[in-house]
Amino acid sequence: MTVHRSDYTPPSWLVDDVRLVFDLDPRHTQVEATLSVRRNPAAAPPHAPLVLDGEQLELLELRIDGRALDAGAYRIDERSLTVDRVPERFELHTISRIDPQANTALSGLYRSNGGYFTQCEAEGFRRITWFPDRPDVMARYTVTLRAPREACPVLLSNGNLVDAGSLAHDPRARTDGGADRDDREWHWATWHDPFPKPSYLFALVAARLVATERRLRTRSGRDVLLQVWVEPGNEARTGHAMDSLERAIRWDEQRFGLELDLDRFMIVAVGDFNMGAMENKGLNIFNAKYVFADPHIATDHDFAAVESVVGHEYFHNWTGNRVTCRDWFQLTLKEGLTVFRDQEFSADMLAARSEDAASAASARAVKRIEDVRVLRSAQFPEDAGPMAHPIRPDAYEEINNFYTVTVYEKGAEVIRMLHTLVGRDGFRRGLDLYFQRHDGQAVTCDEFVSAIADANGLALEQFRRWYSQAGTPRVRARGHYDATARRYTLELEQHCPSAPGQPDKVPLHIPFAVGLVGFDDGRDRRLRIGERVGDQTRALAFRAGETGEHTAVLELTRARHVFVFDDVDAMPIASLARGFSAPVVVEHDYDDTALARLAAHDSDPFNRWEAVQRFLVASIVAVLSGAEPAQRCAPLVRTIGALLEDSALDPAFREQLFTLPSEGFVAEQLTVVDPGALRAARNGVRRYLAESLAAQWADAWSSHARREPYSPDPVSAGRRALKNVALAYWVDTQSDDAIDAAVAQFDAADNMTDRIAALQALLHTGGERRDAAIARFAERYGGEPLVLDKWFALQATMHRQPADGPVLQRVRELMRHPAYSARNPNRVRALVGSFCNGNLAEFHAADGSGYAFWSEQVLAVDALNPQIASRLARALDRWRKFTPDRQAKMREALERVSAHRPLSNDVREIVEKSLAA
Ligand code: TRP
Ligand code: ZN
Repeated sequence: MTVHRSDYTPPSWLVDDVRLVFDLDPRHTQVEATLSVRRNPAAAPPHAPLVLDGEQLELLELRIDGRALDAGAYRIDERSLTVDRVPERFELHTISRIDPQANTALSGLYRSNGGYFTQCEAEGFRRITWFPDRPDVMARYTVTLRAPREACPVLLSNGNLVDAGSLAHDPRARTDGGADRDDREWHWATWHDPFPKPSYLFALVAARLVATERRLRTRSGRDVLLQVWVEPGNEARTGHAMDSLERAIRWDEQRFGLELDLDRFMIVAVGDFNMGAMENKGLNIFNAKYVFADPHIATDHDFAAVESVVGHEYFHNWTGNRVTCRDWFQLTLKEGLTVFRDQEFSADMLAARSEDAASAASARAVKRIEDVRVLRSAQFPEDAGPMAHPIRPDAYEEINNFYTVTVYEKGAEVIRMLHTLVGRDGFRRGLDLYFQRHDGQAVTCDEFVSAIADANGLALEQFRRWYSQAGTPRVRARGHYDATARRYTLELEQHCPSAPGQPDKVPLHIPFAVGLVGFDDGRDRRLRIGERVGDQTRALAFRAGETGEHTAVLELTRARHVFVFDDVDAMPIASLARGFSAPVVVEHDYDDTALARLAAHDSDPFNRWEAVQRFLVASIVAVLSGAEPAQRCAPLVRTIGALLEDSALDPAFREQLFTLPSEGFVAEQLTVVDPGALRAARNGVRRYLAESLAAQWADAWSSHARREPYSPDPVSAGRRALKNVALAYWVDTQSDDAIDAAVAQFDAADNMTDRIAALQALLHTGGERRDAAIARFAERYGGEPLVLDKWFALQATMHRQPADGPVLQRVRELMRHPAYSARNPNRVRALVGSFCNGNLAEFHAADGSGYAFWSEQVLAVDALNPQIASRLARALDRWRKFTPDRQAKMREALERVSAHRPLSNDVREIVEKSLAA
């Protein structure tokens, strides 16, 4: 069933209070719900029927104002409960039975390692009890959990603990006639959340857990208790998550004036989880992957990811929870904004830990580069394929399919553009106004933009098109320098490609940050800007970007603009879209010399990196069309060599410079993709860089290989990153010295970053030493599921070496490994997901074996967990990008899945949209 944004109507019935009593049992959990319901006078006609959502619930009792309803007074179908005649205001009382043990979809109430956990976003609450399960119905919750004390010593829900105590025995005997009553000791706890919230923010946890705790005084002087709950034995791994939480709380107070509003804030780690983490009010539930940070099992990258996800979920407390979404089409209202906030948080934390101002700027650039890499290698392809949608979609079959990189990451770019347009202070004013107007409400994206606009005296009407138009805009830049007139002319044309259901596009409002870099001296020029309209040139008020006085933020609003820069004393090179000021593709014909200059001199570190990326992409594409690396790549080698030697550049930044664009990103630049050829070309360039600079890579490796104890701080992490990228290049030369060095690092490492980097480098060699290292790694970490995930993923993404069999064969063998389970999302993502989404050349093997594997796995996983299956199904959505023989095989695989019954809505939407278009 298609849900349309334009069909929104306010809820007919509102719920003010909810009382829930859970009697927790693996197969027969009982949920008693008491709702105070009233007709929404603004929306519902006087005799509107009451319709509640409910799925996979067995209704045991139904009362209105204490009276049981006759069988004829209500109707139940697969997804709802309807009562035709109800009073204006009443108390609804239901008792339902659910089976958490059978819940392999991990939506609603489910089991993980003996405990009980919930996941309600987006529509999981209806799998717990009958309810108007939509975000614009906000209620106050009081929740009692009852469970056997021995099995579930810890009972948690949202808000504050009211009271707790013991029970002699299983309380379900009341309604069950004692059928499966047990004689163990039970206990109970009651929680109350004072903040009205939508049902998707409800949570409970009942499990054997222990907490680490910290007490904190908020800015206004309230004392709060912070807890991180994990399984016993993992306490020592929670320090970094707790520190990150404290930093997030402080940061939101300082940067946005937003304070923690609860007496208690809890984070719970769980091993089975569909996504990264969930912002349930006061009771965040996290994939364990984003909680545990111990140098022996977590890499520097994992440390950063924990900080960022802890921040993200915490920041939702205001952007998402205090002000929530009116309907799910508005998802980017909370997600785009909260991603923007977590990105800024991470950037500020990196900057704060830097040694000086220059390092702080470069650390911010590193964070920006990482975020842009994700956007360009995942969101740009999505925006160019059959699943393309605006950040605020117009229609969906299954809302779970719209938790996308577009809604999250492009959504964050849209917020960032607003921030650029109104400036840091203007953005703060806008956010203040947003909370002043909408605290406690469920609102739309439009209301957010209006708050930013009104607080800054702007209309931002054209800017709103970013919310409705899909596809990545392209900005074509043409520059011309007139030496006699000392004038540089820059013509900028925007073009928005068509997307599914959106053939015609209108120009967007694009903040385009520009600087002029001297071709000879590499120095930024002062900017005196005019805009030519017809044959008039009018001066433009100079709007300096927050990156400095030599960067101007040009505002593109029409299909074509011509800007003129006067008093330019020497030939410049345009540095375009500095800091990646908009989520667009910038087309400009830089030649190798211009790129080399920008790589060496651009004062904007992002664009320095961007120049190197352009250089790399151009080289890979040239080699792909037949050029010899030795002929094509000499200028590139000189540029990379010089940057490698430039010790004024921070190591973390240099590592970014040397990390090649992903195969996926390069594939986007091509019209037809032959993944094997693409991999050969990219590896050819890589190998050439490795061999041409072999001695420097070896040197960079040894000079950054410090023998000091591990510390996860960004400066040490940066050194490790540079050291390890150097090692990877060096090992790529296949020299014995390099391989010895990698094996030695693998064995001697005192931290996961260095150990796994050495193993990763060894994967680019063949033979026994590689295989021995792979085996030793598994022996060492056999008891660590999160580390085994890395081990699975590493092998699933291996490039096949000459003496190897197909990687798919290895993947199939690994699926028989005792640690593998199709029920655990992290395992499926690590092995099957990494192979299908992260090993382009092997997955797209010409014989179609990858596609057969894909259809078999999509169907197998779909029977257990549709959300995870549907993510996997996305691996084929760009099938039209590939060579014709592959397209035919992919279409066949898609049709096979599409015809299969049963098939979830989740997977059906993906395969049908892939086949259409
Ligand atoms: N709101 C969560 C976040 O972005 C995302 C999330 C967690 C989610 N679990 C989910 C979304 C399950 C859909 C289904 O922080
Ligand atoms: Zn989120």
